[in-house]
Amino acid sequence: MEHLAPVAGERMLDCTLGYGGHSESLLERGVEVFGIDRDPAARALAAQRLERFGDALVLHDGTYAGVAEGLLERSEHFDGVLADLGVSSMQLDEPERGFSIRSDHDLDLRMGDGCKETALDLLDRLSENDLADLLWYYGEERRSRQVAPALKRAREDGMRTGREMAAVIRAAIGGSQRRHPALRSFQALRIAINDEVGQLERLLAAIPGLLRPGGRAVIITFHSLEDRLVKRAFKAHAHAGTLAQVSKKVVTATKSELAANRRSAPAKLRWAVAPHEATAPAEAQAEPDEGLGDG
Ligand SMILES: C[S@@+](CC[C@H](N)C(=O)[O-])C[C@H]1O[C@@H](n2cnc3c(N)ncnc32)[C@H](O)[C@@H]1O
Repeated sequence: MEHLAPVAGERMLDCTLGYGGHSESLLERGVEVFGIDRDPAARALAAQRLERFGDALVLHDGTYAGVAEGLLERSEHFDGVLADLGVSSMQLDEPERGFSIRSDHDLDLRMGDGCKETALDLLDRLSENDLADLLWYYGEERRSRQVAPALKRAREDGMRTGREMAAVIRAAIGGSQRRHPALRSFQALRIAINDEVGQLERLLAAIPGLLRPGGRAVIITFHSLEDRLVKRAFKAHAHAGTLAQVSKKVVTATKSELAANRRSAPAKLRWAVAPHEATAPAEAQAEPDEGLGDG
């Protein structure tokens, strides 16, 4: 909220509505919220929880990249854009959604709208080599060359559930008791199934065009791959003059937030502010004599 700095009467885009916690804080401050979630269950629950705000909450289905690009085409502008990436606790904690390493349901990992393949389809389609690359890049799994063949073999032997996949990975590479060794591979499959990198890249490209002058963007990521994308895109926009100010350091959870919510531990927040007035491209700004003064 500090970096979104909402003011009553403003209009903001919540790209990842989830349970509606962030949107609720904005609505309570008198902001009109456009809320997007690709998960129909999240939309339904948020709509019910936030019903008291009436028309101040406008819900969109689909993916945030698709919706953001549609809003850009229609020249819609916002005072704030927020994205709190990844899966929600709601998705993780529902075993039938197949997101958890303890799930006894088929490995699925689709968040909702816009996903075609399930995790089982993807495991079957990829070659051992391509699967190893995917686990390496999206999961930062250093032992991907051991995990991939173990998973391919286990699929041939009928592996179907999250719990079974977790056991196969532990048997293949061992690992600490504190953090389950299968979590990196689950993350990698989830990122691929939901095209999370492509979604984020498209949103980052759209952000300057979505913000009103002085508008604020806040993005919360949960792994280093996404954080790097945000950091680089904000820096490039600042260089081009399409964003005026960007966070130099990441903002992380405070001690008290960590104590109340352990899942906030890996969260990294970066913020940016749009120029207060329409600015010219960076190279033109370096030449103040070229008649840029009257916009
Ligand atoms: C971490 S949760 C957000 C929690 C939310 N900020 C709250 O206060 O409850 C992420 C949500 O974003 C949704 N989501 C993730 N990627 C998405 C995408 N590309 N397009 C739309 N929704 C997405 C997920 O379905 C999930 O409900």
